[in-house]
Amino acid sequence: MLAATAHVRRLDRAGWPRYEEQIAAIEQSSFAGLSCEDEAQMLSIVDNPRSVSFVALIGGEVAGYCLGGPLETFSHLPGVTDDPYYGTAEVLYAANLAVDDRFRGHGLARRLKRTQLVAARSLAYLWIAGRNRRVVAEPMWRLNESLGAHALGVVHDAYADGPEPRECIYYHIDIEMACLEMASEQRVASTRAPDRLRAAAARPGTHVSPLRVALSKARAAFGGA
Ligand SMILES: CC(C)(COP(=O)(O)OP(=O)(O)OC[C@H]1O[C@@H](n2cnc3c(N)ncnc32)[C@H](O)[C@@H]1OP(=O)(O)O)[C@@H](O)C(=O)NCCC(=O)NCCS
Repeated sequence: MLAATAHVRRLDRAGWPRYEEQIAAIEQSSFAGLSCEDEAQMLSIVDNPRSVSFVALIGGEVAGYCLGGPLETFSHLPGVTDDPYYGTAEVLYAANLAVDDRFRGHGLARRLKRTQLVAARSLAYLWIAGRNRRVVAEPMWRLNESLGAHALGVVHDAYADGPEPRECIYYHIDIEMACLEMASEQRVASTRAPDRLRAAAARPGTHVSPLRVALSKARAAFGGA
């Protein structure tokens, strides 16, 4: 699967110049005619010491990215200062996530978001917050919902650009709950692995080594990936 083969790496100030041009091109083509971040705004997100930003590379090329930082650094965005946890330093604001349209539909956005969730937890964030524009960001909202997002409200006139609708859902994801859910999905997947191997071994002409089956069982027992 494409998402599994992508190389996902942390994005910081040092790495920014290398990827800046490709990220800006994806941002502009993804949000053509809508408000989007320019390079300077994106760099200021990446440059924050509590930024949680990643880039996904395929064959060395940027296929997608996600940028996020402390909620308090996004106070200029409508809806942010109404967040019940604004000012606590416990919320990561998920600012940008986009995948180059050549690579969409292969699980890359999900991989980026999951990576961001795990990294956010390690920086002691408790919540991810974000805004998903009605219609335009419907796919993103579906993805967020599947990770446990719940809408806190609707922000009207959330964007300064022209096209309607200009309202968005303001959401939260409970990071601990999402990480627990992901860990449990991984356990289920690895529990099924021995069955898959046994089924493969039962097919004529297939040899599956007993060591692989034993390793797979051990992983399942210990909850590994
Ligand atoms: C939204 C976006 C990031 C999804 O990237 P992607 O790599 O294609 O997404 P994935 O393949 O990882 O899909 C993850 C989930 O997103 C949702 N999704 C993705 N594409 C979708 C679509 N066209 N319609 C509805 N839901 C969709 C689904 O819930 C999907 O889960 P599933 O595959 O289990 O059904 C991509 O379409 C994009 O870059 N869009 C433009 C930028 C944008 O809107 N960013 C969000 C701004 S808030």
